[in-house]
Order: sequence, then structure tokens, then C-alpha cells
Amino acid sequence: VSAAEDAIAVFDSGIGGLTVLSSLARGFPQENFVYLGDTARLPYGDKSPATILKYVQQNVRFLKTLSLKAVIIACNSASSVVLEQTRLDGLPLFNVIEPGAALAWQSSTNKRIAVMGTQATIRQGAYTTKLKAQAAALGQDVHVEAIACPLLVPLVEQGWFEDPITNLVLYRYLHSLRQLDIDTLIMGCTHYPLLKAAIGRVVGAGVTLVHSGEAMVRTLKNADLAWRPPASPPRRLRLLTTDLSPQFHKLAQHILHGLEFGGAECVEI
Ligand code: DGL
Repeated sequence: VSAAEDAIAVFDSGIGGLTVLSSLARGFPQENFVYLGDTARLPYGDKSPATILKYVQQNVRFLKTLSLKAVIIACNSASSVVLEQTRLDGLPLFNVIEPGAALAWQSSTNKRIAVMGTQATIRQGAYTTKLKAQAAALGQDVHVEAIACPLLVPLVEQGWFEDPITNLVLYRYLHSLRQLDIDTLIMGCTHYPLLKAAIGRVVGAGVTLVHSGEAMVRTLKNADLAWRPPASPPRRLRLLTTDLSPQFHKLAQHILHGLEFGGAECVEI
């Protein structure tokens, strides 16, 4: 297999990273992708950094047995603990934090930015650190409002994207942003793009919502990878999980609609 034929791996704690895969698969229609969701150990968002790091290392060790040209960590909680690592045994390694922070910086005119995420992501403060570093490099100021939203992942996994309970929870987490003159909000968790419409209603149409998948497409377009030529045979989207869950299949159908993909295979890590 030549490097151009090798797949791009997208790793997540479970189901939500399919939102990142969806953006990438549409943004790079001739590339092969292999998705690994660690559904057996989901969620990562309430675990300690040491435990998340251990899980990431184990998953990455498994991914290295496949024929890959890059590894993308779609999970924000996992990205937060491997932030400075850019290569993995010679393979380029990408996390969602830097692309998301860079896109938020560009989108914001008043440099008042909010980020929502799991407990783990917010506790690590990775988005705040990146945004402050960006501001400092340009001699500017930035105000970052970071909000942990732990109840949202289970609501999304129930499929409650448009539901009064979800709306209420979102209101409880986000309504204070209205008073803070925030113009950009990073949806810093794989699941939140599925709530984009509901989030937009709470924070108002004037707030730009940053999607990690879209940010990653922009980053990858500038990456030096061995791309498959346009006339290549059809690409493959392969889905791997560490546990078989009917929920995975249901959400995969919803998130990857319009894309060709195989049924999820269960793997032992
Ligand atoms: N994938 C996780 C993230 O983006 C959310 C789910 C979890 O807590 O594992 O932070």
C-alpha cells in the first residue's frame, strides 16, 4: 500500500467524534478514513488527565497497527491531554484544540470568546491557554469564558437534539453569555455540533459557533500529507469501536447521512 492509499485515522472516546469524521469525509472526498470510537470506556469527559492519557496511549498503540498516514484526535477531552504532541512514531498527529482556537480567534472581532466543553476539557484549560497565547503573540487582549457542560453528552446520546429538556439545560449553562458581549463560542466537545441550532437559539444569532470538524478541515487542507489523486478508486470509511452499541449505529446513520460507510466492527484494544 502506498502512502497515498493509507487511511487517516480519526480517534474519539466514542460516538461524538463522528461529527469530526463527517466534516473530514465531506471535505476530503477521495481520502480513506478509519474511525476508532472507544465506546467501551466512554465517557472520557469526567475522567482524570492521567486516566485519559492512559486510554489515548492504548488506543494509539492499536491504531499504529493499521496502515495510516495521520492520526486525528477528535475528542476534545483527549486532545486536551496530548496538546503539545505533534508526531507519533513519524506520523503527523492532530488535535482539535489548536484548529478550534485558531478559527475562533479569526472569527471574533471583539476578542470576547466563550468555550463550552466537558469537565475534563474545561479543567485542562487548553482552549484558554491557546487563545491567550495567540493574543499575547500579537500584543492583544482576549477575554475567554469557559463553561463546563457535563449534562449535554448524555442528552445528545439519547438523540434529544430538539427537546424542551435539552433547551432548558442549554439555557442554564449558556444564558449568562448574553450579558457578556461574547461574539464567538467554541463548541468544544464532539457532541455539541448536533445541538448547534438549539445552542444558537440560546446565545443569539450574533454569536459565531465554532465547529471542531470544520476547523480541522481547514487545518488539514494546509497539511503536507500524501493525498490520493482525484481519479483514485472509491475511498473507504471504516468504523471501529471497542464495544458494540446500538446507539453507535443509530447516531452514525444520523451524522454520516449521505456518506457511504461500512458497519461498525468491534475491536479488542
Ligand atoms: N468526545 C468527548 C469530547 O469531545 C465527549 C464524550 C466524552 O466525554 O467522552 O470531549
